[in-house]
Amino acid sequence: MNLTIQPARRVSGTLTVPGNKSISHRAAIFGALAHGTTRIENFLRASDTLSTLACLRQLGVYVTLPDDATQPVVVEGKGWDSLVQPSSPLDCGNSGTTMRLLLGVLAGRPWEAVLIGDHSLNRRPMDRVQQPLALMGAEMSGEGDRCLPPITLRGGNLQGITYALPVASAQVKSAVLLAGLQAAGETVVIEPSPTRDHTERMLEAFGVPVQQGGARICVSRAPQLTATDVFVSGDISSAAYFFVAAALRPDWEITVREVGVNPTRTGILDVLRSMGATAVLSNERASGGESYADVTVRGGALKATEIGGALIPRLIDELPVLALLATQAEGQTIIRDASEMRVKESDRIAVITAELRKLGAEIEEKPDGMIITGPTPLVGTTVTSPLGDHRIAMTLAVAGLIAAGETTIENAEAIHTSFPNFAALLDEIRD
Ligand code: S3P
Repeated sequence: MNLTIQPARRVSGTLTVPGNKSISHRAAIFGALAHGTTRIENFLRASDTLSTLACLRQLGVYVTLPDDATQPVVVEGKGWDSLVQPSSPLDCGNSGTTMRLLLGVLAGRPWEAVLIGDHSLNRRPMDRVQQPLALMGAEMSGEGDRCLPPITLRGGNLQGITYALPVASAQVKSAVLLAGLQAAGETVVIEPSPTRDHTERMLEAFGVPVQQGGARICVSRAPQLTATDVFVSGDISSAAYFFVAAALRPDWEITVREVGVNPTRTGILDVLRSMGATAVLSNERASGGESYADVTVRGGALKATEIGGALIPRLIDELPVLALLATQAEGQTIIRDASEMRVKESDRIAVITAELRKLGAEIEEKPDGMIITGPTPLVGTTVTSPLGDHRIAMTLAVAGLIAAGETTIENAEAIHTSFPNFAALLDEIRD
């Protein structure tokens, strides 16, 4: 599917974005493991999170997804031992979170399961999960050295471990913690820098104690999670496209209501401010240990910045759209320490460099990031999002708002992975 974008005269307005993808996956999975009924309000209805629901159903979990999207998703949990061996492969679609979190759950189940994915997921490394799970006692195999999907996993009697993550990854942390809930003794994960902590916060909400100190996160066997209702606030990674759209030009302004502002996710707001835009929070509230707020972003005179170190995990999925913003900033923006971008739904360093260049941007590719020199005027043309990479497609659509002439994005159907009504909302906030 092609998406065609005309330049905007102005960007302004107030909107809400769909529910947080990471929290939606976790609410469904934890609800399935718990005892009782979990109602999930504002669950993200997009292909990634629907993959998680489909996998849970294959594992014998009763899930209700009402036709009326304003109604909560309901998960009837009956505990760890109620999960049944799936009779066919679990299809995780495009979703790395589905695969990696379920591997942590299935590592402690006493049977074998096969997990498959789409073309994009089939090139994403699972060795990062295989290594700790093998140390705990699960047997996991995939293709080649990097343990690519399809994956076969045989669960076992798990033993707790202390594991220093080689890469800062919330998915790997979560997989080890989920296995740890089924293991003998304590399981400790040590992070190289803090990653999104939705798992830790939600485990507490489901009645599981999580001890945290410095970079260490510790759990013990948790035979019983207690069902709880979950409100899923808006996903800051989806709001990011609108924040950047507003920041592209002085006096363009967008408010996104009820956006999750968990501090492990707000790196984009820090960067917007350091580049000269304003980002203001109002009406801050909290639910289930997660805070959310209305966030207003207004454009200003943009200047270049440096993005690296511990900031990277706090904005990892926003780097493509921040690279776009940097094309409009005065000076050289340097993105470093971000080689993880290469193992996302596509090699995002290579792809965003190539596609923004087609629009006239000045970008140099580095092994672990990019150097972007601005400001450069963009000129619309046909650009291509890799099959299965929603974030590249949405970034290129936002670029179309400031490119002269028409911008056509090929393979834009990938947007359904996380944000089915993106194009409609983009249309609403532009003149
Ligand atoms: C996610 C963690 C991040 C992120 C992904 C969702 C999660 O991946 O990029 O979109 O829900 O835990 P990594 O853990 O690989 O960094």
